[in-house]
Amino acid sequence: MTKNFYITTPIYYPSAKPHMGHAYSSIIADFFARFKKIDGYDVNFLTGTDEHGLKIQRAAEKAGLETLKFCDDISETFRNLSKTLNLTNTDFIRTTEERHKKSVQNLWKELLQNDDIYLSKYSGWYSVSDEAFYNDEEIEELDGNKISKSSKSPVEWLDEESYFFKLSKWEKPLLNYYENNPDFIAPKARRNEVISFVKRGLKDLSISRKSFSWGIQVPNNDEHVIYVWLDALTNYISALNYPDKDDALYKKFWPANIHLIGKDILRFHAIYWPAFLLAAKLPLPKKIYGHGWILSGEEKMSKSKGNILDPIEIINQYGLDPLRYYLIKEVSFGNDGNISQKRLEDCINSDLANNFGNLCQRVTTFALSNCEGKIPNPIEFNSDDLKILNKFSGNLNYIRNKIDELDLNFYIEFIVNSLFESNKYFNDQEPWKKKDDIKRLNTIVYTTLEIVRKISFMLYPIIPQSSLNALKIFSINEDQIDFSSINDHNYLKSGDRINKIDILFKKIEKKND
Ligand code: ME8
Ligand code: MG
Repeated sequence: MTKNFYITTPIYYPSAKPHMGHAYSSIIADFFARFKKIDGYDVNFLTGTDEHGLKIQRAAEKAGLETLKFCDDISETFRNLSKTLNLTNTDFIRTTEERHKKSVQNLWKELLQNDDIYLSKYSGWYSVSDEAFYNDEEIEELDGNKISKSSKSPVEWLDEESYFFKLSKWEKPLLNYYENNPDFIAPKARRNEVISFVKRGLKDLSISRKSFSWGIQVPNNDEHVIYVWLDALTNYISALNYPDKDDALYKKFWPANIHLIGKDILRFHAIYWPAFLLAAKLPLPKKIYGHGWILSGEEKMSKSKGNILDPIEIINQYGLDPLRYYLIKEVSFGNDGNISQKRLEDCINSDLANNFGNLCQRVTTFALSNCEGKIPNPIEFNSDDLKILNKFSGNLNYIRNKIDELDLNFYIEFIVNSLFESNKYFNDQEPWKKKDDIKRLNTIVYTTLEIVRKISFMLYPIIPQSSLNALKIFSINEDQIDFSSINDHNYLKSGDRINKIDILFKKIEKKND
């Protein structure tokens, strides 16, 4: 039986070029996609751009460009960023594509047929920046302007004819669903937020707009375009060729395993999206994970605040893998985090260059001069050897479960500890003093090489290119990386050649600490 795994990032607004927050979501999603891939899953990994709505229309007007041309250009920068970040996404969807329009209009028709849509009038607050409706309690005043309490973005008053989705009807079914599926929304604190919001009561949701045209038309009423969030959320099934439910992709990958999002867009994913799906009688995704924010000072980094950090600049200065490593290790997954150049340099110097890079160099150099440049023959593992080797095999299923719980913090901590212990093992065993006990020397070198291999396999989802560079020691290529083989203490074949590799990470000269 094939094991399938479908993970998505949000589809980003191409209202301005991508920043570190977007890079963060994409890199985390790539981590899970790569992990599942090396654990034998068939992975579908979707990202893309969300191109309709007033926010985009206004941004294009401001830039003096025709709207689609504006989207083409910025969407391309997001697509290029996916490549720069070395993402393994299997698709990149744009909501201006025909496959998506067809899908959204079909979903609309399903909702209409199931009596979940009616025509009325919307009077209330709207934030173009968030593309969200807010009620009076969610609004505050700042310097005489009305803003949203949660996002601090300006709101405007709307009074227009609008189609509504009967969200109120789904309040009880949603609460039941959250109750019966305790892992549906994560982390726990986010789940609680959503549940208490729904418990305060859901009002029907305005799902069309009449006062502008940049959107997907409501079927049979060309005066209205579909609310951009109903449009955007549908991307997750458009990419699987919905409405064709017999399509191979749809059958294989829906429902998605994980919608990975930032906590800013939790309400849309954990309330509206499941309600639309329930109304359309479609299965619900298995998990919505709302991660924290990359901050700039105390505030969320965002293009509307103009406090952004360009991931490309950091990559040009330090390289991609150090950035990936930093975001995974130093931003505690689930919480907000900062980008600190000092801490990034510490990661490079101590974790990557010293603990990982140096271990790889030391053991290969030693093996090249003391084991004829070949994988030695381990005679007999003693309890020290087995202790470090068993750290991996003893934890195989435990690690898998942690990954299924999206416990990224556990995974990186496990690697950091393993690197520490492996260096300690090599130092304590002092193979350089065992030249007259060649059997013991060989066993120590073999054990250390096995550990380097196991750690490199585990680092692959985090720092893929550097892991592959390290695995050149053993001439292991990408297709051979297999998570289940970290169980195997005799993976490396005695007599196989060992290759000298280039320095994996260059240390950063620190100006001042
Ligand atoms: O909301 N820290 O698009 P968007 C961490 N188009 N992640 C951040 C971040 C930050 N400071 N800033 C942005 C939209 N992100 C909609 C989504 S999905 C059907 C439609 C990431 O361009 C994070 O994943 O505003 C956040 O949820 C997303 O980008 C918002 O991107
Ligand atoms: Mg946003």
